Amino acid sequence: MLEYTQDHDLSIATLHGSLAEPALESMNFLNEVASRYPKAVSFASGRPFEEFFDTALIHDYIEAYCRYLRVEKGCSDAQVNQVIFQYGRTKGIIHELVARQLARDEKITVDPEAIVVTVGCQEAMFITLRALRGDERDILLAVSPTYIGITGAARLVDMPVWPVRSGPSGVDLDDLAAQIRRAREAGLRPRACYVMPDFANPSGVSLSTSLRADLLGLAASEHILLLEDNPYGLFHDGSHLPTLKSLDTGRQVVYLGSFAKTGFPGARVGYAVADQRVAAGDGGVSLLADELAKIKSMVTVNTSAVAQAVVGGKLLRHDLSMAAANQRETAVYLGNLKHLLDGLSQRFPSGDLTWNCPSGGFFVVVTLPFAADDELVEHSAREHRVLWTPMSHFYSGGEGLHQVRLACSQLTPEMIETGLDRFAAFVAGATTR
Ligand SMILES: Cc1ncc(COP(=O)(O)O)c(C=O)c1O
Repeated sequence: MLEYTQDHDLSIATLHGSLAEPALESMNFLNEVASRYPKAVSFASGRPFEEFFDTALIHDYIEAYCRYLRVEKGCSDAQVNQVIFQYGRTKGIIHELVARQLARDEKITVDPEAIVVTVGCQEAMFITLRALRGDERDILLAVSPTYIGITGAARLVDMPVWPVRSGPSGVDLDDLAAQIRRAREAGLRPRACYVMPDFANPSGVSLSTSLRADLLGLAASEHILLLEDNPYGLFHDGSHLPTLKSLDTGRQVVYLGSFAKTGFPGARVGYAVADQRVAAGDGGVSLLADELAKIKSMVTVNTSAVAQAVVGGKLLRHDLSMAAANQRETAVYLGNLKHLLDGLSQRFPSGDLTWNCPSGGFFVVVTLPFAADDELVEHSAREHRVLWTPMSHFYSGGEGLHQVRLACSQLTPEMIETGLDRFAAFVAGATTR
């Protein structure tokens, strides 16, 4: 029975447990602070660069996709209209194009039937965890610090997340093995480990090729899946490392893709590559992608055909390569990253502050000589007009208190300069506070 009080219609205590948890507030908190201080330079947001956005491109991309339907797929005009305007295939309509892009950009060979096109990568994470969480014994391992979206999605499906130490290399395999052992001893079932091998959010760290191979080996010997999330991998300086999925010979990896950064976030298009074979009770076999599609059909029915057409058209316009489509953007991101790292060196030569130096992606982590919490972000925004993200948001147990994440993807070099001057003033003030 719902508990009513005189002044309120509902009590949070009677709603889903996730609603009272900080993980679900993190994204809103930063957006809210940013909206209250619009004049602040924001190193908090990992949004894509906006200057190349152009609504005329939307029409051009949709046209390119419709032409593909007519020419390559042999659709009549009526059929094209039906594809764009009607309810559509649950697993998506651009799966073949996505498979061709993965082959081109990532050397991932995958049957298009193993792809589910989702409403952003966020939905891919949610439906994957929903499927893997069979009962209360199932847990998710996640390399810590981790992306807030996976923590929140796991919470929505009542799946505990056990942190795995990242260590200097990006994932501590000894700790991963130890956590799996501990979980099993406690009668739990570690189903998968969530990893971002390329320019992770928030750490910016990438795994070496040999560590990727060792991680796959451990996952195979321990019979756990790896959930590989890769929104930033294409924004590299030429040193592109193989994705786990491209090295995966035993269907150990569910690959979670996003077109938020290589396409644009407003489209809300992502996907899961789930080629694992699922034994059905009746002796039949399906693909995990088909099981995920059943869940998706009850969450979003299908991903917007209009949005898929836009992303599909962008792929077609760039010869099925998001790397080719993002040459200008990649140059901006690498330039900004260099600017940020050089600017930090110039302003903090003494060694009181340290930071990592990723060779791509959107994020840098700075370690400060003082604790940097949510209250201090407010102070920084109000008094110094500069925003950043406390790293504690990406940990489950209060770690990372002396660290902040800086993102520079959305800024210009001038804004980075101004932001760093303000950040330096903030640090000077906080050190003497
Ligand atoms: C690591 C990671 N995964 C997934 C996403 C979300 O992707 P989407 O916008 O496609 O849901 C993000 C967005 O910031 C991210 O950083």
